[in-house]
Amino acid sequence: MDRKKVDLGYLFQAKKNGEPITMLTAYDFPTARLLDEAGIETILVGDSAANVVLGYRDTLPVSMDEMLVLSRAVARGVKYAMVIGDMPFLSYQVSVEDAIRNAGRFIKEGNCEAVKLEGGGKMINTLRAIVEAGIPAIGHLGLTPQTASMLGGYRVQGRTADAARKILEDAIGIEQAGAFMLVLECVPDRLAQLVARRIKVPVIGIGAGPYADGQVLVLHDMLGVQAGFTPKFVKQFAMVGNDILNAAKAYREEVKAKKFPAPEHTFTIPDEEFNNI
Ligand code: KIV
Repeated sequence: MDRKKVDLGYLFQAKKNGEPITMLTAYDFPTARLLDEAGIETILVGDSAANVVLGYRDTLPVSMDEMLVLSRAVARGVKYAMVIGDMPFLSYQVSVEDAIRNAGRFIKEGNCEAVKLEGGGKMINTLRAIVEAGIPAIGHLGLTPQTASMLGGYRVQGRTADAARKILEDAIGIEQAGAFMLVLECVPDRLAQLVARRIKVPVIGIGAGPYADGQVLVLHDMLGVQAGFTPKFVKQFAMVGNDILNAAKAYREEVKAKKFPAPEHTFTIPDEEFNNI
């Protein structure tokens, strides 16, 4: 496959050509390498790391320092994809100065090429300031997990005309502020289509139906690694969780039964050397 490094031009061209853009989350080096090899175009070091890899109850507790460790690992595994760092809760909400500084840390210390921040309204000014500081940024509207409690929980957004209009207005605001892409989470399919038609920057949907300019899923959801509730919009493309469980059980049984390690897994020393110890 003749592959080009994914940059802003690539993403805009894809939207223009009606070619769906792929995005998945990743949080470590080996997975990032596999996603890159698979041709995934954009890799989000999501703050979903908080729950899916760090075991926190939701996305709120993850820190900048934790996100930067994960970002660096992902960036080390990627040659072609664009790596995007997801700004964690309170890394950009307290002040615009803080937001620029933390966005800059994703670029300088996390080796990301861009950052994502959640929210419309006042957050649009923060996004603008980040872009004006020279940092490529993407927006995130609809269900914004960092403020899910203010949205009435993890539920579909934009189902009334007023709510849908607000999302559309925020999307236009985010584009005008200089974002090069927008993630739209958990909104009706026709709203995603309307937004994707009204703004020029690519709209990446998650739980937003088939009409967005691209799709993103949380890796552990689509691999079937997550325990518990699977949202309606997730398709499990594999059941890796079962494979890990079965492999761990098989390993345990073989160790207990003294079947592993077998001769082919074992190093030897010649008799004359051993007898001279
Ligand atoms: O943190 C994350 O994984 C995300 C995706 C759901 C878009 O923001």
